[in-house]
Amino acid sequence: MPGSASGPAIQTENLTKEYPYGFLHLKKKTSLEGLTLQVETGEVFGFLGPNGAGKSTTIKLLMGLIFPTRGHARLLGKPTTDVAMHRDIGYLPEQPYFYDYLTAAEVLDYFAKFFDFTAHERRERVQRMLQKVGLETAGKIQLRKYSKGMLQRVGLAQAILHDPPLVILDEPMSGLDPVGRREVRDIILELKRAGKTILFSTHILPDAEMLCDRVGVLVGGKLQGVGAPGDLVGIKAQEVEILFTLAPTAQAHAPKNDHAPLLAKAARIGERFRLQVKEEELYAALEQLRGASAKILSVSQIKPSLEEYFMHLVAADRAQAAAVEVSGK
Ligand SMILES: Nc1ncnc2c1ncn2[C@@H]1O[C@H](COP(=O)(O)OP(=O)(O)OP(=O)(O)O)[C@@H](O)[C@H]1O
Ligand SMILES: [Mg+2]
Repeated sequence: MPGSASGPAIQTENLTKEYPYGFLHLKKKTSLEGLTLQVETGEVFGFLGPNGAGKSTTIKLLMGLIFPTRGHARLLGKPTTDVAMHRDIGYLPEQPYFYDYLTAAEVLDYFAKFFDFTAHERRERVQRMLQKVGLETAGKIQLRKYSKGMLQRVGLAQAILHDPPLVILDEPMSGLDPVGRREVRDIILELKRAGKTILFSTHILPDAEMLCDRVGVLVGGKLQGVGAPGDLVGIKAQEVEILFTLAPTAQAHAPKNDHAPLLAKAARIGERFRLQVKEEELYAALEQLRGASAKILSVSQIKPSLEEYFMHLVAADRAQAAAVEVSGK
């Protein structure tokens, strides 16, 4: 029965995709290199990575749309080549395309015909899906009049139409405004509450941070980090933010004061100053602020964001790539 699969929902081992190119196809571009990953049943897993990282390649391999050069993947315990298993999967491709002159209701009705629903069930289900993605009033309008965000929602409705236990979404928030993103987030959370497993790729890191039990960061075709967002950001050193004001007389001297080197790093924001220091520099900074007769408004810990962790991995990969290029010359 769909949804009752025990064990991991997605399992990949050494999954690799190379594209040959150039003269006699002698060169090869590795879009995905040795991906070994497990997504548990009921998990929301976010796949993060910069452009060209290999996110869509991975998703297409999982969907059986392209075939691995090496390695293998299993979905719901079955190999990706098992055609019947794909009925239990919902898939939103990156930039889905639907025929312009159909209405959303017609498109969804067409996709519903791939499943064993009666005509009545189909009608009822299509209406429910249109409502779920906020298109109930637009369902009778042709898609050529839809905005990008509305088309994305049609794609999402198509992906979850048949109530699949595993949902794979390639950039579900792309092209959506903050309201649309919120709606997609709510749909993903509702799917999670219903016990579904969701894997989605995204560039929108706060959304991933808010939704995902775990995220995987893919850079240059390689999985560079995987874990709960909270655990990943904890890896980075903590910093502290101090907000303060200075008496007008002290302001003229503060940035140039040699006895207060930390204070010189403070940035002015209107009437206030903001100083960011490492945790171990906090007492020295407070001492310097006391010396300058500063009035301290707040001291708070800066929680490193998933974005910082992500940027750190991307920068490390680029530095490594540059080093290889230089040593190769
Ligand atoms: N059919 C193909 N032939 C050759 N190279 C390909 C092919 N498909 C993808 N690639 C390359 O593989 C790499 C990974 O592409 P992929 O589409 O998986 O990235 P992505 O992480 O989804 O990026 P984006 O965030 O832009 O969607 C890219 O360098 C891309 O140019
Ligand atoms: Mg992509």
